[in-house]
Parts: sequence; C-alpha cells; structure tokens
Amino acid sequence: AQIFGNRINSMGVNLFVENQYSPLEKQLRAWDQHQWKACPVINGEHRTLSAPNPVLSPYDQSQSAGTVYWSQSNDVDDALSAAYVGFEKWNNTPVEKRAQSLEKLADLMEAGMPELMALCCREAGKTLQDSIDEVREAVDFCRYYAEQARKHFSKPNVLPGPTGESNELYLEGKGVFVCISPWNFPLAIFIGQVTAALAAGNAVIAKPAEQTSLIAARAIDMMLEAGVAKEAIQFLPGDGAQLGPQLLSDNRVCGVAFTGSTQTAHIINRSLAARDGAIATLIAETGGQNAMIVDSTALPEQVVKDVVQSAFASAGQRCSALRVLFVQKDIADGILELLSGALKELKVDHPKHLSTDVGPVIDAEAQAGLLKHIEEMKANSRWNAEAILPGDHNKGFFVTPSAFEIGSINELSKEHFGPILHIVRYAAEDLDKVIDSINDTGFGLTLGIHSRNETTAAYIEKRVKVGNTYINRNQIGAVVGVQPFGGHGLSGTGPKAGGPHYLLRFANERTRTINT
Ligand code: SER
Repeated sequence: AQIFGNRINSMGVNLFVENQYSPLEKQLRAWDQHQWKACPVINGEHRTLSAPNPVLSPYDQSQSAGTVYWSQSNDVDDALSAAYVGFEKWNNTPVEKRAQSLEKLADLMEAGMPELMALCCREAGKTLQDSIDEVREAVDFCRYYAEQARKHFSKPNVLPGPTGESNELYLEGKGVFVCISPWNFPLAIFIGQVTAALAAGNAVIAKPAEQTSLIAARAIDMMLEAGVAKEAIQFLPGDGAQLGPQLLSDNRVCGVAFTGSTQTAHIINRSLAARDGAIATLIAETGGQNAMIVDSTALPEQVVKDVVQSAFASAGQRCSALRVLFVQKDIADGILELLSGALKELKVDHPKHLSTDVGPVIDAEAQAGLLKHIEEMKANSRWNAEAILPGDHNKGFFVTPSAFEIGSINELSKEHFGPILHIVRYAAEDLDKVIDSINDTGFGLTLGIHSRNETTAAYIEKRVKVGNTYINRNQIGAVVGVQPFGGHGLSGTGPKAGGPHYLLRFANERTRTINT
C-alpha cells in the first residue's frame, strides 16, 4: 500500500522490479485467449436473450475479447422497477454493511488484478502500466468511499434547540441513480460512480460505454460476490442513444452520474429537464481543452518530460490530458527541439508489451476523427513533430502521437481526444491574453503551470478557472483522496470524484425534530 498522510492507497505492481513483473506476466498469459461475456443483469439474473455481438480488440481487429448481449427495452423496464424497489432495502442496510461490501470489492479486485488488467488491455487497448493504474484507482475509490460513507452517513449531526426538543440532521440515499460511464477509464470511473452512489444508499442502474461492456460486466459480478445486494445494482450494457431516452424520461430516476462528452451531458440534462416529475440531480464530468503555461523560468527538461506524459500517456485519451501548450517565446525554440526528440523516443506499439508507451485509440471512429485533424494540422501548422508508428499498425486503431504549432487556442473548434498536442508561443507581456483565451474556451478541467517564479504561478492559478491545477509537474493521473478530480463550465457540474464532498452530492439531507 502507498500511504499519503493517514490515507492508504493501493500500490499495484511495480513493472520494473523483476520479482514483481515476472509472476504477473505469467498470470497475465493465462488470460490471453479468454473470452468474456457481458449481458444485462437484473436482480442478479444474467440475461442472454438478445443476439450476441463480438467484442474486438482495439490493437488487433482479428482478435476477439468476448461477446456482449445488448439490453432491450424490456430490460430497461425491469431494471427501473427492480432498482426502485431495491432502493428501499439498500438505503436501510446499515452503513457499516454497505461500507464492508465495498471494501470486499476492493479486495476482490486487488486479488483479481491480472484478469482485470488483461481485460483493460484486450478490450480497451490499455498499456500494462495504464491497466495497473486503472485497477489501483478502482480499488482506491471503493476504500475511500467506504470510509467516507462511515464518516458522513453513520451518525446524525446533533443540532441545538430549545429545552424539550431534539434536532438532528442526517444523510441518506436519494433513490435510483443512473450511472453512465466512459470507455477511457472502463473500470476506475465505472466503479467510482457506482460505488459512490451505493455508498450513499442509492440503488444503481449502471450503463457502461458501448466499447467496454466486458470490463464493466466483470466488475458487476465482483460487486455481487462482494455482498452488494442484487436489488441495489442493475446492469444495462447497450447503446446509449437507444436506452437513454427510456431511462432518463422515467420519473423513478432521481439522479444521473455521467462521465463523457459535453455534448452528451447536454442531451442528458435536457432529457432530465423535460420531465414533469421530481427534479433530478446531474453529476457530470465531461471534456476539457486543457492548457499548460510555461514561462521562461521553467526547467526545459522537466517541462518536456511532463508535457509528453500529459499529452501522450494513455494515447491522450484522458479528460485531464494536455491539449494546448503555451510556451513563452524566449525558450520556445529549445522546448520544441527537445519535444521533437522526445516524440521520436516514444514507443507506440501493442499495449501488452512492457516497453510500449502509447497504445491504440479506442475505435475506428475515434481514429478517423484524429487522423483527419492531423491532416488538417499538417497543412496549416507552423511547425510539427511526430512519433514513429510500428510496422504492423494497420491491424489496430493506431494514431501517430503528434505535436503542432498553431497561432492561438481559438483555432481549435473542439477537443481532440487523442495523442495530439497543440503549441502556442506567447510573449511575456501577453500573459493575460493567454489566460483570457483559455477561459474563453468555456472548459475548466485541468491546467498545468511550469514556472520557478512563485508569484507568476500563483497569479496564473488564480486567474485560470479550472478544477485541477498542477504546478511544476504533469497534469494527469489524479489520485483518489489526494487530488479530488472534476471541473466546471463545459467540463462538468463540479463535484470532485475521490474527494471528501463527493458522496454528499449523491445524498438527501433530512432534518428530524422531536418534541421530547
Ligand atoms: N482522473 C483522470 C486523470 O486525472 C481523468 O482523466 O487523469
């Protein structure tokens, strides 16, 4: 375990220590050919009535990772009814028992690390390191929210009152929460949303991203094994556009936790607002046009290391990833030269090789959009550099990690969710214009600052409106309980996953007054 203050986070496996890597490598091999299955799970019953669809690996479209049975309209109906009834039971389950089931889930995932890593790699194209980090984060969410549930939900807040009257404020679940999770953190964010909702006492209907149903299905089975009541967790793999309207128009749904695109968050928000029934809660964590500002006092070698990590790790498929690097003119040429060299060193390859830095992107649609943007950038940018693709890259959805110099962040009309970095040079006297241009995008997720001038760093931090600022380091990989994560504006509704206030967003507050 890794200890931060009085918090204990999962340590995972160190791939660069031989006696840790070798046994793991052997265990991973056992999952090389395994075929997983995902299907709707209603009150613990697995339904395989619809037509099976093959799930193919992003790094090699000739390889199958398993089969998914999409949910149908009657599964949605049944999930809603089951969750509605299940809420009563789960909300009345003692907090201690709910917390213990989440801790058991954490233990099961830690013990099942090789299988979960194999799934992350084969279904989502994650590298070994990213797969380890994914499992660690999922484990951390379980333990952290269990601890937070005990802290906030076990005892009421006793409030003052006149003699002969007792007043208490307490928290409980809201009802049925729909959790809609993304493919880029198919285990961690899936688990994070669901366990937060469950910890607070809600019943959950989980709808994972279409691309990563197998990982989510495995997590559901582990939840049931860990003691989460089967009435409290309903699982609906399937097409969001098809299932969404039926789910979200139902007045029994009291809240939605969503991570994904800003566009989809708007659609969800509108669907919830169109209902006549209870006003639903929306917890959304969406995209970013994340910037890093580097002034002339920064250390170039450190900057380039952190830029490469922030922009290209996980093939740039993190909502926290760096998209636009602002470099003060005085040091820009040197930084670009170092960056060009660093890109050539990046190993783009099959995600299961230990030496791979960057794996494939998730699917054909993502790849096509990114390749189109690269073509446009090549025609229009002032400078560019790129990594080298492997020989057999045509088997999967590989995209060359690339960097382009542009004139301003305004030239980008949207977030490009992949390994593409944009660079803008700025003059020291234009720092405020740079800050305004970042704020004007409307996004507010992460910000990187590289400066050895503390006053400048503090000034930038204060003025750029984002949820997470990282100074003199990379800007990805928020750790549960250490860097609570989430942004504002076009980037989300603000709640901080892995933070001390997150569970409160999933809860109703109730006041009890007794005339004694
Ligand atoms: N929590 C992730 C990160 O910090 C989000 O993409 O990188």
